[in-house]
Amino acid sequence: MSHLFSPLTIKDVTLRNRIGVSPMCQYSATDGVPNDWHLVHYGSRATGGAGLIIVEAAAVEPRGRISPEDLGMYSEEQIPAYQRLTAFMKENGAVPGIQLAHAGRKASTHSPFKQQGSEPAVATENGGWDVIGPSALPFAEGYKTPKEATIEEIKEIQEKFRQATIAAAKAGFEWLEFHAAHGYLAHSFYSPLSNKRTDEYGGSFENRIRFTLETAQIMREAWPDHLPFTVRISATDWTEGGWTIEESVELSKRLKALGVDLIDCSTGGNVSDAKIPVGAGYQNTFAERIRNEASIATAAVGLITQGMQADELIRNEKADLILIGREFLRDPYWPLRAATTVHKINDLAIPPQYARGW
Ligand SMILES: Cc1cc2nc3c(=O)[nH]c(=O)nc-3n(C[C@H](O)[C@H](O)[C@H](O)COP(=O)(O)O)c2cc1C
Repeated sequence: MSHLFSPLTIKDVTLRNRIGVSPMCQYSATDGVPNDWHLVHYGSRATGGAGLIIVEAAAVEPRGRISPEDLGMYSEEQIPAYQRLTAFMKENGAVPGIQLAHAGRKASTHSPFKQQGSEPAVATENGGWDVIGPSALPFAEGYKTPKEATIEEIKEIQEKFRQATIAAAKAGFEWLEFHAAHGYLAHSFYSPLSNKRTDEYGGSFENRIRFTLETAQIMREAWPDHLPFTVRISATDWTEGGWTIEESVELSKRLKALGVDLIDCSTGGNVSDAKIPVGAGYQNTFAERIRNEASIATAAVGLITQGMQADELIRNEKADLILIGREFLRDPYWPLRAATTVHKINDLAIPPQYARGW
């Protein structure tokens, strides 16, 4: 029976345990280039015992950044800066992953700790930029109204995803995640609440998922066959008339057929006032359902904070991988602590520098 500290092998990559660092924007980059903050932040979670580290959303083009301080994967200068990070993570036993993203209509906003006042959007005269989406509908008050993407612009963005995928492999990443959740570009195409198009990218379910499927296929083809390729989706909009778990199951089946190895099951983010029943493990049932009904490996994420809670999900085959977000911000050594609570301390190599203190 697998448990939290069982290795997980997907393609040619083996994670030393089922614990991953969920992608979390650090809003600390200049021109999309990672720096010492990122090295220390991701490096300490590698020494802390995580099996997988998914580096935060890196935009495939400058226009796709959530904030001016986001990471990017669109310039030559970024690649060696990432290589420093991936080398350190590997040396310390963690598989380096990255999430490639395009923020769509939620781009050009202030990073949370830089925002002054209540206006989320960064005005163009203050270093912001024009944003793009499936339809000319802003996310919420104070956000920019996106330009409705032409077919040509859709293809151009997909080409950016292809180039960024190739760059991510060069940068030494061994696990790739396509960010298709949280109301960013791909999610805003598949949700009927943000996509009002009447061409082949809008309307029916088939048309709304087209952008996500095409982009996933382009990325899968550009990414080495022997490395895992995963997609984060929002399994529900938590809103009447919005995207549903049933549609997520169907989308996951289609993604699996394209060679996607795992679905990372998040929710929400496309509707500013959705009523989300936030609480312990509140998204876990989506990971379980997609795993069972689409027969694909899943990651569970969302208010998983305790070792026993995470271990139970793996033991009872509700998910294949556990992603921990905020608890990892509080404690880079979460896996070492969890190993103690679930009686598996001998299954996790503690860095020799720290072994005596444990
Ligand atoms: C500071 C912060 C930044 C985040 N950035 C991202 C991101 O870049 N990509 C993403 O898919 N989710 C992002 N998230 C969501 C987390 O990956 C995770 O899904 C969410 O926090 C729920 O997990 P938790 O309860 O363990 O924190 C972010 C969350 C936080 C708190």
